[in-house]
Amino acid sequence: MKALVIYFSRADENYFGGSMRYIDKGNTEVVADYIQDIIGADLFKVERKVPYSKDYMTCIKEAQDEQKRNKLPELVKELSNIDDYDVIFIGGPIYWGTLPQPMFTQLSKLDFKDKIIMPFSTHEGSGLASIVRDIKKYALKANIKTGLAIVGSNVNSSKPLLQRWIDEQL
Ligand SMILES: Cc1cc2nc3c(=O)[nH]c(=O)nc-3n(C[C@H](O)[C@H](O)[C@H](O)COP(=O)(O)O)c2cc1C
Repeated sequence: MKALVIYFSRADENYFGGSMRYIDKGNTEVVADYIQDIIGADLFKVERKVPYSKDYMTCIKEAQDEQKRNKLPELVKELSNIDDYDVIFIGGPIYWGTLPQPMFTQLSKLDFKDKIIMPFSTHEGSGLASIVRDIKKYALKANIKTGLAIVGSNVNSSKPLLQRWIDEQL
């Protein structure tokens, strides 16, 4: 089975169980790389044309505002088809209870008919929140598997968990 990971992830200033710090690689990107290691998936990183601010508190406000207005921001590059793939991992950080809006910009451009979808999130307490329900809006005819939520501050030790999830679902 040929697999693809479509994900969003933000480096820069982030929150880790009570304190802020700058990171070079976002939490979800760590997870996406592990999925690639485990299953040999291709990666597609969704990038907002105008990146969110590096400053955490400003980014929080930008993302909230964009979501409230249901705005789908422009991307650096859009993936135009996923015909070659059987399994699509769709993941990102939880932003205000769901995926970041740039993910929906990308999902709205693709046809997920008959694809297997593996939803995942990284988060600081919300789990999968409403990402499965929201992915379904764009993938009505897909086979959506049970998702996996990973606490952002624990991503570095998540590889065995990911391996188990993939073994169970696929
Ligand atoms: C704009 C913004 C909104 C967030 N909203 C939530 C939330 O609603 N629930 C939650 O558990 N974590 C929330 N977080 C924390 C992130 O989901 C978490 O730190 C995640 O691992 C970041 O992933 P990344 O490094 O791949 O971007 C939020 C973070 C940001 C920047």
